[in-house]
Amino acid sequence: MEPVIIARGLCKKYGTLTAVDGISFEIRRGECFGFLGPNGAGKTTTVRMIHCVSPVSSGTLSVLGSQAHVDNRALKQQTGIVPQEITLDTDLTVRENLQVFAHFFAIPRTEARKRIAELLRFVELEKKSDSRIPELSTGMKRRLLIARALLNRPKLIIADEPTTGLDPQARHLVWQRLRRLKSQGDTLILTTQYMEEAQQLCDRIVIMHRGRILREGVPARLIAEEIGREVTEVRAAPEQDGGLLAALGPLARGHERVGDTLYFYCDDGRPLMKKVLELDLPATVHRPASLEDVFLKLTGRSLVE
Ligand SMILES: Nc1ncnc2c1ncn2[C@@H]1O[C@H](COP(=O)(O)OP(=O)(O)OP(=O)(O)O)[C@@H](O)[C@H]1O
Ligand SMILES: [Mg+2]
Repeated sequence: MEPVIIARGLCKKYGTLTAVDGISFEIRRGECFGFLGPNGAGKTTTVRMIHCVSPVSSGTLSVLGSQAHVDNRALKQQTGIVPQEITLDTDLTVRENLQVFAHFFAIPRTEARKRIAELLRFVELEKKSDSRIPELSTGMKRRLLIARALLNRPKLIIADEPTTGLDPQARHLVWQRLRRLKSQGDTLILTTQYMEEAQQLCDRIVIMHRGRILREGVPARLIAEEIGREVTEVRAAPEQDGGLLAALGPLARGHERVGDTLYFYCDDGRPLMKKVLELDLPATVHRPASLEDVFLKLTGRSLVE
């Protein structure tokens, strides 16, 4: 599949701080590509360069066939961004917020009216169209940001942590909408700190940490390669490591200590769990492996801290 975004040695410096440190990746047409990483990893900085609102310090970044730079208006017209911050005009109503953007994109008035009605339906905000922004819940504001990002009918949609602060129901609604966009053939870039979100939506992901890419791949494959199928968490003081590793280590394909917990990685966790029960270890958790485990293994810390 043809790449719509190609980054090579992409860097972003703010003074002496290197926020994005020489990353390379390709995003293909029609896929949902995820940037995962903890606070300050460089996710927003990266997507802001793709959206041509932040200059590239060094390296190359090609988006939809042209070089990304802040004066590339044509490129800005072809992308839609759902920003991490809620940047809505609080003096205006829901509909007026969209009208301002339609004007900005020079969409003719009758066409704008039609698109706004469609988009308000798409994000289930028709009933709120005349409400002012302070009257909306966070979930409604985030949905309005999605509608706004779609006004110019972009082929490339960037959503920067679109579900932060939403309850599970609101989160699922946003996921459904993003999946529908993807099913229409749009290319989607998503940043998130939620592993489940990445597993639900992304075809491929990169895991970022301190401006660098640690791993890239298909979520399920990364989990299978790095971790296996199952994880057993044993809460124990580090002094117990010797005994526990002697008893449980041979039954696992790998392990990691993070804080007060020993994580054992298995493809079939039953023999290990049997041993855990024999040893009568307190507060153990046995569960399916997730992307969070991949991150934990790569960085020795958990993603949301
Ligand atoms: N405008 C700016 N000026 C100076 N430093 C900045 C600026 N924007 C971001 N940074 C710094 O760049 C680094 C990466 O920030 P960025 O916002 O890209 O992280 P992030 O992965 O999006 O994090 P979060 O999950 O918190 O949104 C951080 O150290 C941040 O302090
Ligand atoms: Mg961010």
